[in-house]
Amino acid sequence: MTSIPEPVARHQSVVHHAGFDYTAGSPHLRHRALHQRVVGTCRDVVRDVLARWGHCRVLEVGAGHGTFTDHVAALGAEVWVTELSQDSATRLADRFRHNPAVHVRHDPDGTAAASLGTFDVVLCLSVLHHIPDYLAAVGQYVGQIAPGGAFVSYQDPLWYPRRGRVSRLVDRGAYLTWRLGRPGRARGLASLSRRLRGAYDDDLPGDAVEYHVVRLGVDEEALEKLLRERFPDVRVDRYWSTQAGPLQWLGERFGPPTTFGLVATGAHARRGPCSGQAAPLPGGNGAAGHAVS
Ligand SMILES: C[S@@+](CC[C@H](N)C(=O)[O-])C[C@H]1O[C@@H](n2cnc3c(N)ncnc32)[C@H](O)[C@@H]1O
Repeated sequence: MTSIPEPVARHQSVVHHAGFDYTAGSPHLRHRALHQRVVGTCRDVVRDVLARWGHCRVLEVGAGHGTFTDHVAALGAEVWVTELSQDSATRLADRFRHNPAVHVRHDPDGTAAASLGTFDVVLCLSVLHHIPDYLAAVGQYVGQIAPGGAFVSYQDPLWYPRRGRVSRLVDRGAYLTWRLGRPGRARGLASLSRRLRGAYDDDLPGDAVEYHVVRLGVDEEALEKLLRERFPDVRVDRYWSTQAGPLQWLGERFGPPTTFGLVATGAHARRGPCSGQAAPLPGGNGAAGHAVS
């Protein structure tokens, strides 16, 4: 898998610092209905694997401060978390230090998952839009899913070129209404101006962190196609999401979809040496501890 370009990885790590508030700018953490939609799906998928096999190995890419890790670990899954930000990885390791079923890997360039073996479920929650080559990344994660397993992603912006003008305007207006009331207004406006001109610079945090949010969104149809090669059952869940509470309420009732999740279940057996076999548990069966390197 291609690694994350250095300036992009560096900015993401710096922005997601020890005191970073993941909830403030994240509709799926702020709004109850969205949060339940994501938690409910993750829990259903993990529960299904646990019911069939009695165990469930989960890879969660980019867990932030572990909001969703908590939910799947509470069900009895064994969870491997990769996190690009050193500060967030340290905080996760501390948060789950008493839970030997949660393993945290600091992943400075986005390549750590490849060495962690095979999983029953892969979760990418609000993370694909941070990954410049998300198609290559998802291709790799899917190759690491055991037969019968599942892939879930949520909270990525729908591919802008396929969306109507009105949908884009309403979405952008809702975002700006919220953003203008937040600190760093000038930075936000500069970033918007670059966005409108289509001029991006990986050396600027505004362009490097919310990578595909400030570019063209995430191509849900290309991802769906990729997932269909491995999964008989793929669902694209399209919905409205925005930061401000009242606009979320309105958008849920009247707004166009802006954001999507993907739920792919029942992975076919892979062709090749791993076909039909589960690989050894990454880190060993019941490995205790939480390596943060
Ligand atoms: C918007 S936050 C989402 C956090 C969490 N999943 C949630 O929904 O609350 C994105 C997180 O992904 C991490 N990240 C970005 N690219 C990554 C990658 N390629 N591998 C692992 N973590 C990544 C960032 O450091 C950040 O903590």
